[in-house]
Amino acid sequence: MVVEAKGLTKHFNRRTIFSDISFHLEDGESLVITGPNGSGKSTLVKIISGLLTPTSGTIEFYNDGKLLPAEVKYHQLGLVSPYLQLYKDLTAWENLTFFARTRDSKVDESRLKMLLKRVGLGGREHDELKTYSSGMIQRIKYVAALYHQPRILILDEPTANLDEKGAKIVYEIIKEQTSRHILIIATNEPDEVKFGMKHVELG
Ligand SMILES: Nc1ncnc2c1ncn2[C@@H]1O[C@H](COP(=O)(O)OP(=O)(O)OP(=O)(O)O)[C@@H](O)[C@H]1O
Ligand SMILES: [Mg+2]
Repeated sequence: MVVEAKGLTKHFNRRTIFSDISFHLEDGESLVITGPNGSGKSTLVKIISGLLTPTSGTIEFYNDGKLLPAEVKYHQLGLVSPYLQLYKDLTAWENLTFFARTRDSKVDESRLKMLLKRVGLGGREHDELKTYSSGMIQRIKYVAALYHQPRILILDEPTANLDEKGAKIVYEIIKEQTSRHILIIATNEPDEVKFGMKHVELG
C-alpha cells in the first residue's frame, strides 16, 4: 500500500489553514503530524481519511501500483479520533457490531471479543456507552478501528483520556501497525512524536 499526498492545501472561507503539504508513505512507514492548537492537524487527518476535501492538491492510495477507488479506500482505513461519534444509548457491543456490518455483513464476534479483551474491556461490552468513562470510550474506538485489520491506521490524539496502562496498549498497537502497515498520527506528545519516521509540521 502507498499513500501519496501532493500539494494539499485547505482554506476555510478566506483563511488558509495549511498549504502545499506533500508526503509519500509505504508499508512499514509512519507519519507524525505536529503543530500548535488550531494549526490544522485534525483538518489534515480528515482530508487523508476522506471526511473533508482539500481546497487543492490530491491524496491517493495505491495497492500494487494501482490507484484505489474511494469506496475501496474506506475498507483499508482505520481511524481513532475525537470527532468519531458513537451511539451513547447503545451498548458497546451494539456499536461495534453496527460498525462491523458497515464493512461486511458477517460479524466476526470472536475477533471483537479478542479486541475488547486486548483494550481491557472484556466483560463490559453489554453496558450502554453513556455509562462509560471517557478513557473507556477511547478504548472502544480502538476496537472499532482495528476490527477490519486496516492497512492504514490513522490516530488523532491517540492517547486522549487514556491512563498509563491505556497508553501502553496504544503504543503496542502502534508498533504492531508500523511493523507491517502504514501509520499516521496527529499529536504533540513527545512519547508519540518519536514513533514518526516522517514528519509534517504545521503552523
Ligand atoms: N468546519 C470548519 N469551518 C471553519 N474553520 C474550521 C473548520 N474546522 C476547522 N476550522 C479551523 O481550522 C483550523 C485548524 O483546526 P484543526 O482542528 O484542524 O486544528 P488542530 O491542529 O487539530 O488543533 P488541536 O491541537 O486543538 O486539536 C482552526 O483555525 C479551526 O478554527
Ligand atoms: Mg485536532
